[in-house]
Amino acid sequence: MAILVKNIKQLVQAEPKKIKFRAGKEMQHLPVIDNAYLLTVGDKIKDFGPMEELSKIDLNKIKEPIEVIDASGRMVFPSFCDSHTHIVYAGSREVEYIDKIKGLSYEEIAKRGGGILNSAKRLHETSEEALYEQAWQRLEEMASYGTGAVEIKSGYGLSTEDELKMLRVIRRLKETSPLTIKANFLGAHAVPLAYKNNPDEYVDLIINEMIPMVAAEDLADYIDVFCDKGFFTCEQTERMLMQGIKYGLRPKIHANEMACSGGIQVGVKYNALSVDHLEYTGDEEIAVLRGSETMPTILPGAAFFLGMVCAPARKMMKGGLPVALASDYNPGSCPSGNMQLVLAMGSIMYKMLTEEAINATTINTAYALGEHETVGSITKGKRANFFITKPMDTIYYMSYGFGSNKVEQYFLNGKRQ
Ligand code: NIG
Ligand code: FE
Repeated sequence: MAILVKNIKQLVQAEPKKIKFRAGKEMQHLPVIDNAYLLTVGDKIKDFGPMEELSKIDLNKIKEPIEVIDASGRMVFPSFCDSHTHIVYAGSREVEYIDKIKGLSYEEIAKRGGGILNSAKRLHETSEEALYEQAWQRLEEMASYGTGAVEIKSGYGLSTEDELKMLRVIRRLKETSPLTIKANFLGAHAVPLAYKNNPDEYVDLIINEMIPMVAAEDLADYIDVFCDKGFFTCEQTERMLMQGIKYGLRPKIHANEMACSGGIQVGVKYNALSVDHLEYTGDEEIAVLRGSETMPTILPGAAFFLGMVCAPARKMMKGGLPVALASDYNPGSCPSGNMQLVLAMGSIMYKMLTEEAINATTINTAYALGEHETVGSITKGKRANFFITKPMDTIYYMSYGFGSNKVEQYFLNGKRQ
């Protein structure tokens, strides 16, 4: 199957080269082609350019049937990449949320056995099949809002058996979903109650049992740790990351959400692909991140939902850093995987220009997923993952029109969904 989208008002993130990410001032640069076409063949992007160059292509050479779509008045975007989610979970936690409204903090709810431990209990009682079904629904909804690639973490198991159960669900999603999926082992999401008085013993369990078993079944691409005040210390994090790396798992970690915890420094030291959350990021952390291979990733949905301070996105970009924006879709701090909303929040809450927010939700999150070679931009040879918007005058509507679904049609691997 081939698809030719013609008369595109603007083709967004049309990047001839395969780049890694955009950083600093470069984040204000967004390649856009006015009055453009996009041609996909099979599951890949074959060609794109201004309409006046379409006649140069010999369409007769394409062996497959071509579906022609007229996108007059509409934009075409590469699908969003969401590099941080926890979408395998059992049920929601709206009852706890009422405690939050009444004034309890995230940490206080966690201390009462709520929060992540509550989700772990529910996950334990839920079958693999039911978990798969629930996660599938979430993926479908995310795709309908324009997402084409997703990282999914474990971390609601907190026992060897249940962590493996979660990761097997993620593997099945990988095998069956048209979205590109990466699996992240987050055994160190919280300390289970049984280890409350001896968290190091739980860290030992992760190191000596979970990581080797996860690797033996090849169930994860990455390793994650919630390295923060009230969760895991830097020292514990280092021990777990070292073992993960030994077993081929590159770190992508939760850091600096609750405090200047040293998590960013640990992440960079172990060459993490990303450090995520970053509400507490100062000059020292920015200096450590500069020139590293680690993508600073902000999760606006979680900051919004929990009423936290905003990570200093502008300061980070001024300091020359790239910034990525992901959803953090999870039952406790962000029950939404809507990347259009994340993009708009980037502008509304973090004062990111539309160009910056689009880079932050496409190419920069593609890097933070480890998939910048295959997704995140309209580039020849990349996966044909894209969406056509509803009629739109300018790309700035993406920053402005929050809350509505601006996607009219979406395509993954060259197929209409
Ligand atoms: O990324 N910060 C840690 N973990 C999740 C929250 C998970 C939960 O509350 O269930 C997050 O926000
Ligand atoms: Fe998270």
